[in-house]
Amino acid sequence: MKVLVTGVKGQLGYDVVNELKKRNHEAVGVDIEEMDITDGESVNRVIREAAPDAVIHCAAYTAVDAAEDNEDICRKVNARGTGNIARVCKELDIRMMYISTDYVFNGQGTRPWEPDDHREPLNVYGQTKYEGELEVEEKLAKYFIVRIAWVFGVNGKNFIKTMLNLGKTRDKLNVVADQIGSPTYTFDLARLLVDMIETEKYGRYHATNEGLCSWYDFACEIFKQAGMKVAVEPVTSDQFPVKAKRPMNSRMSKDKLKENGFQPLPSWQDALRRYLTVIEN
Ligand SMILES: NC(=O)c1ccc[n+]([C@@H]2O[C@H](COP(=O)([O-])OP(=O)(O)OC[C@H]3O[C@@H](n4cnc5c(N)ncnc54)[C@H](OP(=O)(O)O)[C@@H]3O)[C@@H](O)[C@H]2O)c1
Repeated sequence: MKVLVTGVKGQLGYDVVNELKKRNHEAVGVDIEEMDITDGESVNRVIREAAPDAVIHCAAYTAVDAAEDNEDICRKVNARGTGNIARVCKELDIRMMYISTDYVFNGQGTRPWEPDDHREPLNVYGQTKYEGELEVEEKLAKYFIVRIAWVFGVNGKNFIKTMLNLGKTRDKLNVVADQIGSPTYTFDLARLLVDMIETEKYGRYHATNEGLCSWYDFACEIFKQAGMKVAVEPVTSDQFPVKAKRPMNSRMSKDKLKENGFQPLPSWQDALRRYLTVIEN
């Protein structure tokens, strides 16, 4: 199978291209230099020239707080850019996988979100990712929407790298303890995404590593596994103001994955252990 992957310079796109190659698929990885997804002409030309059987769309405007002040560019990338890709996939009659986010939900309650639950984003980034989902759903029948959360990969910035860096200079840190979710290791997720794109089991899915935690729990486990002595203090979201509002409940139900015969990801603690080994070497 030949698969075009957007966002190859980002955390997820990098691992998806590696996984495709490992599985003897032909992978064409592109980023903004080869294909600016906001440029419809460029998207049309690059996808047609590559003539793939599928597109895995990982590129996005992912600066969640900066998005609050940059709504136009964020929408241009996440909504219209996704629409540009969906249009070409429709014309070529190829399958498309769009990577989305837990931020499409309002974060209320404690029940894990099901893939078909009502979407009500709390911030600009979440709203534009939701609009991207609509672009895909309205244009295509052969699509996967895979919502992920709290992403970490070797190729890019993430919470783990931030904690490890802060831990070098600080012996005490405050970390939010009232937002609950599940981290997602891009290396593990890439295996699942390739499993999925090989099938015709289209639809909306949720995919994260197994197990739940707060950012506080996550930070404690990072320092424990890294062997660093940092005192982590739990704080509420109100005590740690940021520009974009975050959902408190990011519990994501992965039942649909299992019902469709897909293998769930390992626990987040196990993923963290392997990730630390990789970035230490
Ligand atoms: N990170 C998270 O915690 C998280 C959580 C839930 C869902 N997601 C979703 O998961 C997917 C992968 O996330 P990630 O963390 O791997 O993202 P990432 O590391 O920020 O990578 C995104 C890539 O897209 C590129 N890009 C930005 N604008 C573009 C444009 N106009 N045309 C083409 N490429 C463009 C970026 O280039 P530049 O770096 O040059 O801008 C970057 O290489 C995204 O769809 C994201 O919305 C992420």
